[in-house]
Amino acid sequence: ESSETTQLKQLYADATELFHHILINTAMGEEALQYLHKRGLSDDMITEFKLGFAPQKELLLPFFQEKKVKQELLRKSGLFSETATGDLRGRFRGRVLFPIRDMQGKTVAFSGRLLAQNQKQPKYLNSPETAIFNKRKVLFNFDKAKTEIRQKQFVILFEGFMDVLAAYRAGIKNGVASMGTSLTNEQIYLLERTTSKMYLCYDGDSPGQTATARALSLLEPLTKMTLGVIRMPEALDPDEYVRKYGEAAFKELAQNTHETGLAFYLHYYEQGRNLANEDDQLAYIADVLKQLAGVTSPIERDLYLNQLAKRFGVDKDSLAAQLNDFMRKSG
Ligand code: UTP
Ligand code: MN
Ligand code: MN
Ligand code: MN
Ligand code: MN
Repeated sequence: ESSETTQLKQLYADATELFHHILINTAMGEEALQYLHKRGLSDDMITEFKLGFAPQKELLLPFFQEKKVKQELLRKSGLFSETATGDLRGRFRGRVLFPIRDMQGKTVAFSGRLLAQNQKQPKYLNSPETAIFNKRKVLFNFDKAKTEIRQKQFVILFEGFMDVLAAYRAGIKNGVASMGTSLTNEQIYLLERTTSKMYLCYDGDSPGQTATARALSLLEPLTKMTLGVIRMPEALDPDEYVRKYGEAAFKELAQNTHETGLAFYLHYYEQGRNLANEDDQLAYIADVLKQLAGVTSPIERDLYLNQLAKRFGVDKDSLAAQLNDFMRKSG
């Protein structure tokens, strides 16, 4: 490890401690602490994940200057942005901070959430890439979740950091999240070395469901892992679900209610359609058959053909003929 890498990690370790201290021990952190409590996070959780708060007041710069940290290193750290006059100023202000840790549990970046929704700024702001932070390689909470993933023999992929934390307090500790993007090859490789099963538990809202469909089709050809979906009802995200129905209900859902990818698609293609209407029925059947065309197991295909035939009262042979057509076209 180069000395610059070591120094950067030290800066992030110090910053993590400082921001955490501000959150839990100072008047400046009071509002943020109340906010986190209101969102259902206990002091134990806040400490376990070393959540922090970056106030509006500039604290980090004088803190490091007093320690005689070189300006050049501060510049490279990603903890600051540069003003037009070349001065450094803290990148995160008025945000609750989620430390992003590497495999060894060391903070290598932050994601900061605005306390109050603000039209002009993004809700979450991430650290830029640095010598110690490559966002393609990092999965939020992987360091803590690793052991649990091995034991439970599956990993749950969430959209958001708050969802990972909500699951964690419900006792579901094998959850991770990517950095607000779809999974990269590097992240897939990391997970594949740890487990052979992955469940997607994205938000139940329409963008979350679309992202699930996209992730399934993207991942299926890329990974040997078995994929499944934990679908959130009522357009809730996992964090909202825990707050509405409680920890036990979420735990039950996350442990025992997995759908196969195909079962997810059967549901997904119903969205925005009225299946009492024949045009919608035909379009739905076509979408499902196209999906089935990618299924390699003949038994699985047959099972769903039977279901479709029964559900819509159509001849199974016609469905099979249409399916064969789609299979020829997709090669
Ligand atoms: P969501 O919009 O679903 O946010 O984005 P959330 O996690 O439910 O946030 P809360 O509950 O309002 O706090 C899901 C994820 O997408 C990334 C973040 O990683 C977030 O957790 N994201 C979202 C960003 O990177 N930037 C944004 O401005 C918004
Ligand atoms: Mn979302
Ligand atoms: Mn969400
Ligand atoms: Mn949320
Ligand atoms: Mn279903």
